[in-house]
Amino acid sequence: MTLSYQVASRYCGSAELFEKACGLIPGGVNSTARATWSGWDPHPLFVTHGTGSRVFDVDCNEYIDYLLGLGPMILGHRPPKVTQAVVNMIEQRGTVFALPHEDETALAAKIIAAIPSVEQVRLCNTGTEAVIYALRLARTFTGRQKVIRFEGMYHGFSDGVYWSKHPSLDMAGPAKAPVPVPQGPGMPKGIDQNLIILPWNDLALLRETLEREGDAIAAVLTEPIMCNTGCILPNEGYLEGMRELCDKHGVVLVFDEVITGFRISLGGAQAKFNIRPDLTIMAKGLGGGFPVAALGGRKDIMALVGKGVVSMAGTYSANVIAVAAANAALDELSAPGMYEGLYARCDILLEGLRKIFHDSRLNAHVVGMGPVLQVWFADHPIRNYRDAAQYSDHDLFRKWWEGNLNRGVMFHPGAYENLFVSFAHTPDDIEKTLDIARLVVRDIESA
Ligand SMILES: Cc1ncc(COP(=O)(O)O)c(C=O)c1O
Repeated sequence: MTLSYQVASRYCGSAELFEKACGLIPGGVNSTARATWSGWDPHPLFVTHGTGSRVFDVDCNEYIDYLLGLGPMILGHRPPKVTQAVVNMIEQRGTVFALPHEDETALAAKIIAAIPSVEQVRLCNTGTEAVIYALRLARTFTGRQKVIRFEGMYHGFSDGVYWSKHPSLDMAGPAKAPVPVPQGPGMPKGIDQNLIILPWNDLALLRETLEREGDAIAAVLTEPIMCNTGCILPNEGYLEGMRELCDKHGVVLVFDEVITGFRISLGGAQAKFNIRPDLTIMAKGLGGGFPVAALGGRKDIMALVGKGVVSMAGTYSANVIAVAAANAALDELSAPGMYEGLYARCDILLEGLRKIFHDSRLNAHVVGMGPVLQVWFADHPIRNYRDAAQYSDHDLFRKWWEGNLNRGVMFHPGAYENLFVSFAHTPDDIEKTLDIARLVVRDIESA
């Protein structure tokens, strides 16, 4: 269903710029998540700047920002120390050398100190790349071909994994035996033969699958918290069971911590849940808003890169801008007490939203952990993608989103995205957000 923004005149500058962009840029945007068909309908907002917890659009609207660039702006917009570190680096040293520099080693040490399972780490530019490398390593290490990935997750846009993100249920096969569904046309034929798609949060089915064909399976690839179908937490014991099963069958367990890394805690979700994957993918939170990603893990697996058996390349990998940003971001994130303060503020938001919906007539529940959360408009618990596809009310979510946007609270219009909180969000921001949420819920109820 296409709905227009309630107060179109509030966004006319963005509408004009979008029209102009559409003539030159396919779809008017440079990534699918910003497109009209991803919810930014009738047009995305055009931003002028961001500062701390706030973002401003070309129509001079100011928003408390829970979109946060889809996650990277964990320190808020233009975090002074990260920005300064990057400026200094560019002015004093340069940007790209295609030779190593010593700050890379300093950064590797910080990542290894932060993430419990990481013994060695290589940098790259995007989460998509890091996933490609992780699976290449897992296949080489095990000598096997197949990869298990879970319906509803997103691991970047490479051919090997851009499958069954949010497939339409009439193409996706039975719930207990999903069929791989490509994101779209253009994938080379045959890739799906090495993909096993499973529903998340179903340990029995994972066990059955590994018992049946574990000998052919190189990796289980998962987010430790499902953040690409709204926010879905792992069932109690699910990640522990996954770890045990991977050990039993000699399968490489890959945690995609692109969203959860440096967000759920300094050590990512793996530190919070106390699970050690074999390989970890890191990106968004790592760079404080600059493009950088990393793949790290067990020394014996990473040794395949060290010996030159598996190639990790890239002109821009570990460019000095990315490294300066990540070094500065990790220095900030590792300051004592940072995450305790963040969680205290996020808990007020989470509990406040829960109370607002509890006191309302709306069927909604709020799921999250610290600085990542989503509101599910559903009268059924959401434990995996099929639940979301069957039970979540996208029209109601749209009304909730529009109400917030029109009152100055920004997050992604997609019900399967998340709200992200940054270290720059103040108790006042949270209080204001809750005040606005109350008004939006009241408006929806009275409509
Ligand atoms: C869990 C997860 N993995 C991988 C990616 C891909 O990362 P990138 O956009 O940096 O390629 C994303 C992007 O949102 C993600 O959420």
